[in-house]
Amino acid sequence: MGGGPGGGVLGRADGDRPPVSRTRVGVLVSGSGTNLQALLDAAADPGYPAEVAVVLSNVPGVPALDRARKRNVPTVVLPHTGFADRTAYDRALVEALAPYRCSVVCLAGFMRLLGATFLRAFPGGVLNIHPALLPSFPGLHAQRQALEHGVRVSGCTVHLVDEGTDTGPIVAQAVVPVLDGDSEDSLRQRIQEQEHRLYPLTLRLLAEGRLRVEGRRIHVAGGGPETVGLALLNPGPSE
Ligand code: GRF
Repeated sequence: MGGGPGGGVLGRADGDRPPVSRTRVGVLVSGSGTNLQALLDAAADPGYPAEVAVVLSNVPGVPALDRARKRNVPTVVLPHTGFADRTAYDRALVEALAPYRCSVVCLAGFMRLLGATFLRAFPGGVLNIHPALLPSFPGLHAQRQALEHGVRVSGCTVHLVDEGTDTGPIVAQAVVPVLDGDSEDSLRQRIQEQEHRLYPLTLRLLAEGRLRVEGRRIHVAGGGPETVGLALLNPGPSE
């Protein structure tokens, strides 16, 4: 992508940042949408390399849809019920997103598995965020699984989506300590704080073309680990 600051693209007359072509992202949700909010907040900066072009929910009336509307982002509700099988729903999702010309999709608490029909439609990448250090504790109730297992650190993972449950190549992780006396809820909250840092950061890396996939390993141009408070992010926000 060209056109970053000093990238040789003519700026606006007001001396603001030069216009850049931002990656158009569809965000798929099923619930509260705090990660969606983090992406919307990041994209509110015109210098951020991605914009949320549409928010799609499989559940009507969820708070995530209100978050999108408040930012004037188009919303689509597509319940998963009544489809013959997963492929039929995948196809309907692709059709519903088509008018918004997204090259990338972010799953942000979207509670459906996606198959090849959907994934093939977005070769630019489909990202998901999961509240554990994968490959530990995939699937539902990741924080409960972590507490029951007795791990001393957990965290969150942003990964590329494949057809499995939380099995795709890992892009970024944040490590969060499990504290004595943690409940599922307190651990969830501390992990979510890091989710809200990690997801916009990872989308930025993808949109800037800084990710190179080699089998299961993803190489990140210019990204090293970074400590934020008690948490460790890898890669972190520093260049
Ligand atoms: C997050 O914990 C995310 O890791 C998981 O689902 C939750 C969604 O939360 N995939 P929110 O809707 O973004 O608040």
